[in-house]
Amino acid sequence: MSSYKIPVPNSKHTFRDDLFKGKVLFCTGGRSGICYKIVETMMSHGVDAAIVGRDAKGLLESAQSLERSTGSKCIATSADVRDPEQLGKAVKETIDKFGKIDYVICGAAGNFLAPIDNLSPRAFKTVIDIDLLGTYNTIKATIPHLRQSHGAYLHISATLHYRGLPYQAHVSAAKAGVDALSNVLAAEEGPRGVRSNVLAPGPIGNTEGMSRLTPKGWKPENDIPLGRIGDTSDIANAAVFLFSPAASWITGTVTVVDGGEHHIRQMSLPYPQSLLDPDSVKGIIKGKL
Ligand code: COA
Repeated sequence: MSSYKIPVPNSKHTFRDDLFKGKVLFCTGGRSGICYKIVETMMSHGVDAAIVGRDAKGLLESAQSLERSTGSKCIATSADVRDPEQLGKAVKETIDKFGKIDYVICGAAGNFLAPIDNLSPRAFKTVIDIDLLGTYNTIKATIPHLRQSHGAYLHISATLHYRGLPYQAHVSAAKAGVDALSNVLAAEEGPRGVRSNVLAPGPIGNTEGMSRLTPKGWKPENDIPLGRIGDTSDIANAAVFLFSPAASWITGTVTVVDGGEHHIRQMSLPYPQSLLDPDSVKGIIKGKL
């Protein structure tokens, strides 16, 4: 018997069209995937946006297609989140264009599968630098503007660090740090009217993470209580809610959007064979181990 499949949500059925009219969003990692969909959905509710990332050409194409699909404004500002100076320039470009920033999404992230004994110090540091230090740098670059607008942060985290998931030491450490950073930000900046929350997506279809990091033929719907893999719209709808006035007394929280997956998750690679004999699983995922 197959389980009931929850329908994919459409934000327009729940939130009003002009919910974010006159507001400005600054999003790192908005070029593609989950963050692209969040930006697109918020723009379809009136927000103007700046998307930030390393790939200048890809960002520009994404900004143009976001404007076409939503009718709101979007600029592409290239910066590596590991570099505070580049981020400062991206913030300045955003302020020059739109005059303010109301919402920030810290979404830039890097991931690959590797057991600790194959993880060089530079490899570990690279992911900490992008995910955790990049979040800190983004907060530092934007906080004066968020204080002015009484705005809100949303950090894109994960659920993999809730338990000890093999191959993900670097990302688990980084995302645990992001969750902690958001809580402190919420406590420190709440009195100035700034909110900070975390969104933790489960397995989301048609994303780079899913195609590169999971085994071929893996059927996640068998491991998900709500019966289907996530859609980028699931994450975008949660983000719209968390930025909306309906969430104005919500700060310092983690919202898990995963159809219940982390409660029953099994390791998608055979355990413990994949650790004891990595050669036996070579080729079953797209990335190297
Ligand atoms: N296993 C082990 N080590 C790896 C690795 C893997 N699969 N992939 C990268 N590394 C190591 C590199 O070997 C290097 O360490 P070394 O110099 O000691 O050899 C270190 O990580 C940095 O790699 P590099 O490619 O130079 O860094 P980068 O800054 O260009 O990009 C990532 C790093 C993590 C962002 C890269 O994996 C990437 O571009 N990923 C695609 C984007 C992405 O991850 N998106 C998120 C999807 S969920």
